[in-house]
Amino acid sequence: METFSHPFLIGGMPALSIAEKFGTPLYVYDANIIEAQYHRLMSAFSELNFKPKYACKANTNLSILKFILHLGCGLDTVSIQEVKLGILAGFAPDNIIFTPNSVSIDEIVEAAALGVRLNIDNLHILNEFGIRYGNTKPVCIRLNPHIVAGGNIKIQTAHLGSKFGISIHQIDDIIAICQKHEIVIEGLHMHSGSDIKDVNSFLKGLEVLFDTAKYFSQLNYLDFGSGFKVAYKEDDASTDIEQLGKEVCARFNAFCKNYGKTLELWCEPGKYLVSRSGYLLVNVNVLKATAANITIAGVDSGLNHLIRPMMYDAYHEIVNISNPSLEKHPYSVVGNICETDTFGTDRLLSEVRMGDTLAILNAGAYGFSMSSNYNSRLKPAEIMVYKGKAHLIRQRQVFEDLLLHQPQVDFL
Ligand SMILES: Cc1ncc(COP(=O)(O)O)c(C=O)c1O
Repeated sequence: METFSHPFLIGGMPALSIAEKFGTPLYVYDANIIEAQYHRLMSAFSELNFKPKYACKANTNLSILKFILHLGCGLDTVSIQEVKLGILAGFAPDNIIFTPNSVSIDEIVEAAALGVRLNIDNLHILNEFGIRYGNTKPVCIRLNPHIVAGGNIKIQTAHLGSKFGISIHQIDDIIAICQKHEIVIEGLHMHSGSDIKDVNSFLKGLEVLFDTAKYFSQLNYLDFGSGFKVAYKEDDASTDIEQLGKEVCARFNAFCKNYGKTLELWCEPGKYLVSRSGYLLVNVNVLKATAANITIAGVDSGLNHLIRPMMYDAYHEIVNISNPSLEKHPYSVVGNICETDTFGTDRLLSEVRMGDTLAILNAGAYGFSMSSNYNSRLKPAEIMVYKGKAHLIRQRQVFEDLLLHQPQVDFL
């Protein structure tokens, strides 16, 4: 069982006092952790012309986007709204890559007009794009390398039947469309999934990019995606970023020599940059004994705020930060949503009392960004701790937010 500091600190500040000041449920992020993760990544790949792009689907809070921009990172986006948030945060359009799937050509055209880099993931759109732009706008191609990797079937993106990318088996079609419309391919991209521990999965993907690069003579970058695994509990495995950096640098430098040009290497970390920085602080509303000898601790949050445990069976460490040193007992920590809504089953927590505050760890990625108003419950506030100060970076929703954009039509 992992040990934690008492009092429980986030960015050097007592988490309980942050919860008391801003209320719960509350997302709290530690800027230091984002910064440390970024520097660790940069130093692992320091031998290359390395330009990571933060996959902002993980967390699109504007203040976090600005923070990551100031660290020197680029941006990876998947919707026109993420593109616009990125531009609003201050990212230069050519430092943003747009990697949508299942969108119409209209959304691509809108992104093109904003000047961001475009990553095309299907043959139909590639052809449409060629008809409109010919050789006037270089693009990137998202390939499906058919590498099965990733922690959970729902986050594997490169299997044979995956909706993502253009299959490497369709390389002849890609070439034919590009030749027909004189499309300039400036980048090649792949992303096999999330929670990938094995360095070899990334290296295999890289080999696919190297192999495909021979068909395109005007490349400026290769993008090997992301999916770096982070540890969710003590002794949990994570991607060895230093090992990955070492292996990739050697191969990529050799590739560039062969290709005859020093390309940029891109990747798109989401979880890796922000997951560990985030905590969801919740208060215990209900304690209920069960016949199974496990006490239910019902809290003032739910799958509407953090869906990962229910959606991906993800494990998030839970700590009782009000009473850290009492005797440990088994609890199931559940939310207040009207269906099975469990944050953690059969967890040994320091004795939980009514009103205690629990911290759910590793909640910085795909937490708030996947939150909803299900059950008409309100979304939490978000706080970023930076240099010893807790900054409010998103206000808690109020009831009136639920009424926005709902013309009230009385039909009878
Ligand atoms: C294309 C692409 N790039 C990057 C990411 C970020 O992955 P992760 O958060 O695992 O780093 C994702 C995640 O879904 C993705 O689909």
